Amino acid sequence: MRSMAKTHRRYICRECGAVQAQWYGKCPDCGTWDALEEHTTVKGASQDKQRGESHGTVIANVGDVPQAMPITELDDTDYPRLATGIDELDRVLGGPRNDGQQGIVPGSAVLVGGDPGIGKSTLLLQAADQLAGRDVRVLYVTSEESAQQTRLRARRLGTESKNLYVLADTNLARIIEQIRKTQPRVVVIDSVQMIYKGDLDAAPGSVTQLRSCCMELVYMAKSSGIAVVLVGHVTKEGTLAGPRLLEHLVDCVLYFEGDRFQSHRLVRAIKNRFGTTQEVGIFEMTEAGLQQVTDPSGILAAEYTHNHRNPTPGSVICPVLQGTRCLLVEVQALTATGFLGSAKRKTSGIDGNRLAMLIAVLEKRAELRLADQDVFVSVVGGMKIVEPAADAAIALAIAGAHYNRTLEHGTAIIGEVGLGGELRAVQQMELRLREAARLGFTKIIMPPLPGAGVRVPKGCEPIQVSSLSRAIQVLG
Ligand code: TYD
Ligand code: MG
Repeated sequence: MRSMAKTHRRYICRECGAVQAQWYGKCPDCGTWDALEEHTTVKGASQDKQRGESHGTVIANVGDVPQAMPITELDDTDYPRLATGIDELDRVLGGPRNDGQQGIVPGSAVLVGGDPGIGKSTLLLQAADQLAGRDVRVLYVTSEESAQQTRLRARRLGTESKNLYVLADTNLARIIEQIRKTQPRVVVIDSVQMIYKGDLDAAPGSVTQLRSCCMELVYMAKSSGIAVVLVGHVTKEGTLAGPRLLEHLVDCVLYFEGDRFQSHRLVRAIKNRFGTTQEVGIFEMTEAGLQQVTDPSGILAAEYTHNHRNPTPGSVICPVLQGTRCLLVEVQALTATGFLGSAKRKTSGIDGNRLAMLIAVLEKRAELRLADQDVFVSVVGGMKIVEPAADAAIALAIAGAHYNRTLEHGTAIIGEVGLGGELRAVQQMELRLREAARLGFTKIIMPPLPGAGVRVPKGCEPIQVSSLSRAIQVLG
């Protein structure tokens, strides 16, 4: 009975999604100031009402009361994934490799995040078209652009498929109604921040709306077997707006990396309940949308390798692993006179703490005076490196910039740096060496090889050094 309904006031943290009974200036859970937002629910209009709804092919048995069962008696039918046909995207979505089994899991919720203008809509429209071309009906809900704009973009991308439905709407109830009507197997919501539920007293994009809309869509996905792809925006700080909140609700979070001003885009899974988070998909933005990069390994160092540009001081090439692949990346460093005690250390693409550690090692073990030097380190192409295998490259880039010296052209470096200034072996040495050799690198500075386990490819001269200071001596 409506008249009996009681409103419940709760406060939700915009940062961590924790729910509080009263308002605080500072979130008691994550400590963020001014992040609690009011959230009212009407008691009685409980979520169970949604439970009765089911759309399309049913995976879960909605309506039945779930019973606890021995795990061995549970249904273990593996629903085939929906391959988008865009290999680089399927790769990040996960699944068994090699047999074309990678792609979207039916009934799952995928969140795609990234800076504005980086290519989220483009990629999803292309993926939607590919799916539609494979007899998978897709509903593309555009809440930011008009249907006509989407049509124009689709035409430009050469996407023409009758199985691809487009809906321009922002009201969740109406969107769900259309989903029920069109019975798609995949729904794309571009973007989730723009949609709203009419019965909530909050603005679109607010935590209340986001959480509520996202939860309803995820629930619909789980109960109906329809896969839902949500596009999420990124805040100024570079996190998904309402970040943790949405990340917790979905099964898979894909994130666009790369520089909007350059053509390369990397799509990385930062959470994946159905696959690894190691893989990246690599694309290039062209006139005809996002194209897969088939031989990505050298693309980030392309300018260096193909143009035979003379190496600049502070620029070093390093083979890094991205999932099962190896990419050659260029690390650049610059040092400039700063002030003792307040020297700047700025990074782009690597961890600031790792840089601080490497600077300390350079000072202590290799006798570089950097205390009054501003140090800037950046990875070319907007790529992020998380591997310690790039330590030596970063350190050598800094040393090169500091001494104004360069490595001979065609030299790459691999190795982790320990606190004692020693160069340590890293995993998958052979793969890295092969890739560097394939792209024309003839000299590789690396830690001493452990026994005869690693085969050095032909035409590649290993320069084995045991410490960072020895590596610095190799600088011209
Ligand atoms: P878009 O997918 O709209 O970005 P997002 O949805 O992440 O905000 O991408 C927009 C940019 O991509 C825009 O600057 C133009 C560029 N672009 C191309 O270069 N080629 C194309 O074929 C398309 C569709 C877009
Ligand atoms: Mg967009």
